[in-house]
Amino acid sequence: MNTIRIDASRSYDVVISSGLLAEAGRRIAALTGKVRAMVVSDDRVFPLYGETLTESLRDAGLEPAQFVFPQGESEKNLATYGLLLEELCRLRFTRSDLIVALGGGVVGDLAGFAAATYQRGIPFVQLPTTLLAAVDASVGGKTAVDLAGGKNQAGAFYQPALVLCDTDCLRTLTEEEYRCGCAEIIKYAMIGSPELFEELVQTPVRDRYEDVIAACVAMKRDFVQADEYDTGARMLLNFGHSFGHAAEKCSGYTLPHGLAVAMGMAAMTRSAAKAGLCPPETAEALEGLLRAYRLPTALPYSAEALAEAARADKKAAGDRLRIVVPEAVGRCRIQSIPAGELLLWLKRGGAA
Ligand SMILES: NC(=O)c1ccc[n+]([C@@H]2O[C@H](COP(=O)([O-])OP(=O)(O)OC[C@H]3O[C@@H](n4cnc5c(N)ncnc54)[C@H](O)[C@@H]3O)[C@@H](O)[C@H]2O)c1
Ligand SMILES: [Zn+2]
Repeated sequence: MNTIRIDASRSYDVVISSGLLAEAGRRIAALTGKVRAMVVSDDRVFPLYGETLTESLRDAGLEPAQFVFPQGESEKNLATYGLLLEELCRLRFTRSDLIVALGGGVVGDLAGFAAATYQRGIPFVQLPTTLLAAVDASVGGKTAVDLAGGKNQAGAFYQPALVLCDTDCLRTLTEEEYRCGCAEIIKYAMIGSPELFEELVQTPVRDRYEDVIAACVAMKRDFVQADEYDTGARMLLNFGHSFGHAAEKCSGYTLPHGLAVAMGMAAMTRSAAKAGLCPPETAEALEGLLRAYRLPTALPYSAEALAEAARADKKAAGDRLRIVVPEAVGRCRIQSIPAGELLLWLKRGGAA
């Protein structure tokens, strides 16, 4: 069992272990003394884990209610968010009660935003059930829903009261969801841990979930504690994401996020190597590791289309973009470039 304390605007523990779902009620009751718990989940996760969680809440003297919505990013919207708020209101939830998010990043982001805004904020607990949510989305307090105009465009910084990551839940992930989570883990290794990189080379993530998740959460803790509101160092977590987001956009959002990040990291690192900003071995090592996890390394769109997508994304930030550039395995830095240079970076990275 690993417990990592996060000291942000609110302090909370992230507990990582097998068997946590059945203990969730006791841990939540001990923490909050709250009376009622609204379990928010999607229709793929709830049938798998809802009953264990609900029973555990009931056994601990908490009164569970549930809000289950159809799985998928397209449900992370204002309509679902509104339905959840109305349900909380209908059941007369108050700030003496709490929300429990059981699911991946979609559930966590939506439930978290509802918690941040319902009655100006009620406590919430994250129970991440995807690898991506375990290492990234459930920690750090970014909550949001998507608008027609863009992903995560309505949201709040709102820290959970507790994060319980039961690694047993990860067994039912599809192969693709597993690989997508691994892409984000490789990102952590690239931005801050040559040791983690080497461990990922030696042992597959699924053979040592607990330690790998704990290593990533500890790194995220450091970023969040240094820069909770994402105006500086936390941006390093965007490594691979500027090209990755552009690729997602070019695919009409059919390309899974983790695969896009893998491509984005590989292209950025090739580009940096060609520009002499990192040794060629860095790009070779990264591509080798991505391939070992059966992750893509080539950007399947033209440099022009990708540059256009990235620029449209960043319009509000003016004519400069901040990108994350690798210097070595385990070390990256933030660099501001004129938007016009993006095409060059993409072409150097091998985009068609
Ligand atoms: N808040 C943050 O800091 C942050 C960080 C990264 C990503 N995100 C957000 O997270 C979302 C992506 O997260 P995600 O990949 O977890 O997506 P997701 O929540 O949609 O989960 C992916 C799929 O896996 C299913 N699933 C979840 N747990 C499962 C399990 N244990 N077994 C079987 N199936 C399971 C879900 O039903 C869904 O179909 C995006 O909306 C993204 O914007 C947020
Ligand atoms: Zn990501």
